[in-house]
Amino acid sequence: MKYSTTTSTLAEARTDCLIAGFSQCRRAAGQQGAASHFRNATTDFEDKSGQTLLINFGSSGRIRRMLVVGGLKGTLTESDFRKAAAAAAKALAAVKAKSALWAIHDIGVKGRDPYWKTMASIGALNDTLYSFNPYKTSEVTPPTLKAVALHADGRSRANVARAVRHGQAALAGLDWARDLGNQPPNVCNPGFLLKEARKLSRLQNVSVTSLDEKKMTELGMGAFMAVSQGSDTPGRMIIIRYNGARKADEAPVVLIGKGITFDTGGISIKPSANMHEMKWDMCGAATVMGATRAAIDAKLPVNLITIVAAAENMPSGGATRPGDIVTTSSGKTVEILNTDAEGRLVLCDAITYATRYKPKAVIDVATLTGAAIVALGNHATAVYANDEDLANALLEAGEYSGDRGWRMPLWDEYQASLKSQFADLANIGTGGAGSVTAACFLSRFAEDLSWAHLDIAGTAFPKGPQNGATGRPVGMLFRYLTEQA
Ligand code: BES
Ligand code: MN
Ligand code: ZN
Repeated sequence: MKYSTTTSTLAEARTDCLIAGFSQCRRAAGQQGAASHFRNATTDFEDKSGQTLLINFGSSGRIRRMLVVGGLKGTLTESDFRKAAAAAAKALAAVKAKSALWAIHDIGVKGRDPYWKTMASIGALNDTLYSFNPYKTSEVTPPTLKAVALHADGRSRANVARAVRHGQAALAGLDWARDLGNQPPNVCNPGFLLKEARKLSRLQNVSVTSLDEKKMTELGMGAFMAVSQGSDTPGRMIIIRYNGARKADEAPVVLIGKGITFDTGGISIKPSANMHEMKWDMCGAATVMGATRAAIDAKLPVNLITIVAAAENMPSGGATRPGDIVTTSSGKTVEILNTDAEGRLVLCDAITYATRYKPKAVIDVATLTGAAIVALGNHATAVYANDEDLANALLEAGEYSGDRGWRMPLWDEYQASLKSQFADLANIGTGGAGSVTAACFLSRFAEDLSWAHLDIAGTAFPKGPQNGATGRPVGMLFRYLTEQA
């Protein structure tokens, strides 16, 4: 989709479809001499949130169609605005229009400016239009809509234009993350993720490298290797560097993604019902890649290092056994009591690797625990951090972008449950709170860092027959990075 900004008044606009509130549409209809057509078409229209009405004026008018969006009067709450935008997007997707003029951000939203409204609007539109069907040979109808102009006036123009630029970048990153997530696990393996990541190296100020298993073994990444060793498909640590900051030596933000391209559980094998969902166990990787691409496309002035810990968790004759003890690259030893708690194993070596960049912040993103779904369902990402400012920045970015998180504890009382009889720590906790104890495990490798962990097991791919990768938390991360700039 091509998004643009326009400041032409509705009296001069030409479009296949104007999307606006009732009074704006009525005025625009009057301006093209169609006041009575408008009146007749809207006699039964309820000007309420969630309602929309399509009016066709035929090909003679400058504005061929109007999508009247209900409830756009006075000052709206954020959630009412998002609802209206979603309803408008859904209705627009059903119209056979090639171009559209989106004017609903002219409406007031409490505490939010045109930048926010534009981001929220095109986010809603993008959500409605997304689909993933490279493997369908039939039943696919591509959307007719090609270009959406966002309406602005003289005052909001700079703000709207910046949001269009940022939104275009953020949504391309989001869609890429969703595409990577939705790929089948026979295609999307660690090598595939590397190949995809390498596409970024064509862009300015970007380089992509990787560590193969030999290198990781040399670096002493015994925890990563304990996961990867059971698979015939070799694991990779992928490193994307983006140098966008004004000062070249500015400390980078490091993003780390869990990239388990399929999680069988290993020897602690999972039940077969819904096991296919574990193809989405690389959504942490997909979303940090997506957020990175968004930051690059938007030319955010930040230094960013993105590390993808990519491996497949399989049972085999060479797989790790429950009870095995491994040494991590930090020097700490781990007793692997459950091979299905593999995400924390690949991540702890990635976190240790991140320390070499002397980062100002490290944020890992992982579909880490089913317990995160128990705690928060599909609505909030579980946010853990050993730094209050970092936690608050991420929570605030989540609120802003509508990609929300909720703070969780990392108390010593929980840490105690990771005690191992024979090693420095065990890879599973006891006493419930599985998302918390998993985060506690990671925190032991981040003691000298400003670090946060996002457990996205609930938000990356909602359960159900129509499920698919959401791309969350690209929105939160993009906003966080924008605010760092
Ligand atoms: N990838 C899973 C967590 C998961 C489950 C994500 C469902 C999304 C949906 C993770 O590797 C895992 O298996 N975790 C175990 C940990 C347990 C063995 C301590 C879990 O949550 O059951
Ligand atoms: Mn697992
Ligand atoms: Zn997993």
